[in-house]
Amino acid sequence: MPGFDAFHARSLADRDGFWGEQAALIDWNAKPTQVCDYSRPPFAKWFVGGTTNLCHNAVDRWLPTQADKPALIFISTETDTEETYTFRQLHAEVSRTAAMLKALGVGKGDRVLIYMPMIPEAAFAMLACARIGAIHSVVFGGFASHSLASRIDDARPRVIVSADAGSRAGKVVPYKGLLDEAIALSKNKPARVLMFDRKLAAMPMSAGRDVDWATLALQHVNAQVPVEWLESSEPSYILYTSGTTGTPKGVQRDTGGYAVALAASMKHIYDGHPGETYFSTSDIGWVVGHSYIVYGPLIAGMATIMYEGTPVRPDAGILWKIVQDYKVAVMFSAPTAIRVLKKQDPAYLAKYDLSSLKTLWLAGEPLDEPTSRWIADSLGRPVVDNYWQTETGWPILTYPMGIEDRPRKFGSPGMPMYGYNVKLLHENTGEEVGVNEKGVVAIVPPLPPGCMTTVWGDDARFVKTYFDSVPGKQVYSTFDWGIKDEDGCFFILGRTDDVINVAGHRLGTREIEESISSHAGIAEVAVVGVADQLKGQVPIGFAVVKDARDIATPEARRKLEGEVMKTVDGQLGAIARPYRVHFVTLLPKTRSGKVLRRSIQAICEGRDPGDLTTIEDPGALQQVKDAVNPV
Ligand code: PRX
Repeated sequence: MPGFDAFHARSLADRDGFWGEQAALIDWNAKPTQVCDYSRPPFAKWFVGGTTNLCHNAVDRWLPTQADKPALIFISTETDTEETYTFRQLHAEVSRTAAMLKALGVGKGDRVLIYMPMIPEAAFAMLACARIGAIHSVVFGGFASHSLASRIDDARPRVIVSADAGSRAGKVVPYKGLLDEAIALSKNKPARVLMFDRKLAAMPMSAGRDVDWATLALQHVNAQVPVEWLESSEPSYILYTSGTTGTPKGVQRDTGGYAVALAASMKHIYDGHPGETYFSTSDIGWVVGHSYIVYGPLIAGMATIMYEGTPVRPDAGILWKIVQDYKVAVMFSAPTAIRVLKKQDPAYLAKYDLSSLKTLWLAGEPLDEPTSRWIADSLGRPVVDNYWQTETGWPILTYPMGIEDRPRKFGSPGMPMYGYNVKLLHENTGEEVGVNEKGVVAIVPPLPPGCMTTVWGDDARFVKTYFDSVPGKQVYSTFDWGIKDEDGCFFILGRTDDVINVAGHRLGTREIEESISSHAGIAEVAVVGVADQLKGQVPIGFAVVKDARDIATPEARRKLEGEVMKTVDGQLGAIARPYRVHFVTLLPKTRSGKVLRRSIQAICEGRDPGDLTTIEDPGALQQVKDAVNPV
C-alpha cells in the first residue's frame, strides 16, 4: 500500500481511475459506463449507467457468506432490551417492511418520512425504502411539530412511519401528538401513517389514515420483495439540515456514489471489516446515523449497534460495557459525550475489557485538546477526530487509519481525505490564504462520490447556497473557518454563518428566532451560539418585547422567559430551547438594519465585539452587556 499522500494525490490527478477502482468495493447489477459526468458543473454524476441498490449491498450481499452472523444489534437502556438480528433475520424484517410499504402504495421515487426513536423498526424502514427505490427522509425524533411540518411540506411524503414514543433518560417522549399536530399544520398531507406501537404512550389512530405496524406485518409475514435496481444517480434519501435561512435544506443523496463512498470510507478511513462490530452513539435522525449506524457498517458486512440511551444510564460505564459485551472494534461518538463522561468517576473506564476496540472516532463538533488527551490516555487507543457535514456524508478531514497510522495532532481533525480538493480561501478576495492564516474551508468541485447531489427540489438553491459564496470562484463552501499549519494539519475554527452546534447537534439560529418571534409578546429577537464548556455551544436569545409591561418586574421577566422557552420546545423541540432569553429594548444593528450577531456573540463570550463603526445605536450593545453581566 503506498502512503496516504500518494493515495490522495492520485485521487485528484487520476479521478476516474481512482474512483473506478473504488467502485469495485460494492455490488453492481449493471456496471457503470462512465465514472464521473461533470458536464454540468457544479452538478456531478457518479458511476453513470451503473445500477445498484443500497439495501442489496447492506443486506442481501452478505447472505451467502454470513447469513447467521449478527447484523443489527439493538440495545435500549431505556426499555431494558437487547436484541440481535442476523443478516438473515434482518433480510426477512426488511423484506416484510418493504412489502408493507408497498401495500400502503409506496413505489419507486415516492418519499417516506421516518419520524422514529432509535428502534430496529426505524432501520428496517430505511432499508425497506432503499430496497424498493423509495426516498426516505428521516426526521430526528427530538424535533417537534413545526420542524416536522416544514419537512413534510418540502418532502411531500406519501407515507409517514412513526411510533408511539421515544424515551430519553428514563422519560417517555410521546410522538403521536406532535406528529398529528405537524400533519395538521402541513399543506401536503401524507396518504397513510404507519405507526409502530412500543406501548410506551397513547397512540390514538386516525381512521382511514393511520395503520398499525404489527397488524399490517401479520399480512406480510414471509414476504419476499426483490430489490429495485436504481441508476447510480437516482436519489436514495433526503436529510434536512439547517443553514442561514429559517427554512431547512433537503440534502439529497444519490445511490451508487453514496454506496461506493461509504464502502471506501469503511476500508480506508475506519478500518472496519466483515464480521467486526461497529458502534456509533449517534441517532438515525442525523447524518452520522445514516452513514455510520445504518448504511456504512452493513455495506462493509459489519454488525452495527443501535443504542437507545444516554452515556450515563444506568451508570457512566454503559458505553464501555457495550464495547466489552459486543466486542466492538470501531466506535464513533461525539466530543460532548466524552466531556460528559470526563466529569464522572474514571474507574468506569478501567472496569471493562476494551481489548476489542481498535479506534474511537469523534465528530460533529470541535474536539478540544483536553478532552481528546483525556480519553486517549484513558483508553490507550487511538482517538481520531473527523470533520465533515450532512452535505458531504463522509469525512472531509481526518486520519485514514485503514491506510496508515500517522502521528496525530491534538485539536486537529487531520488532513483532506482522498477525493477532496480542500482549499482555505480568503473570505473577501477568494484567494488562498497562507500557512497558519484563517480562511474559509472550501472544496474545489466536483464533490467526490457520496456528497449531496443537490438540494431536494431546488437545484438553484444548491448552486446559490454552496457554490456562490466565495468571490470569483465556483467552489463549495463548508461555511467553516479553518487554518492549516506548516505540517498540513487543519484546525476548524467555527462556522462563518448562523449555524450553531449544540452538543454535536446542528441548529440554525434563524429557526430559533422565528420560533421565538411567534410568541405574541415578542417583537424581535436575535439568537446567537455562545461557547459552553460541556455542550460546545448553547443558544442564547436577546428579545425585544412588544409591551414593556411584560418585563416590568423580575417575576414578569422570568415568566415571559419561561413562556418563550415553552414555545420553542413545542415548535422545534427541547434541543433548540434557548439556554437563556434576555430582554432588551433594542437590538444592536448596523445602520442598514443588519443585526450584529457576531458582536452579540463576542460580548456573551467576554471577547471584544469588533468593528462597531457601522452600529446604529451603541446603547443597544450596552444593553446586551448589562443583560449578560448584570450589576
Ligand atoms: O461546523 C462543522 C461541525 O459540524 C458541522 C456539520 O454538522 P453536521 O451537518 O451535523 O454534520 C456532522 C457530521 C459529523 C460542520 O460544518 N463539525 C463537524 N465535525 C467537526 C466539526 N467541527 C470541528 N471538528 C469536527 N471534527
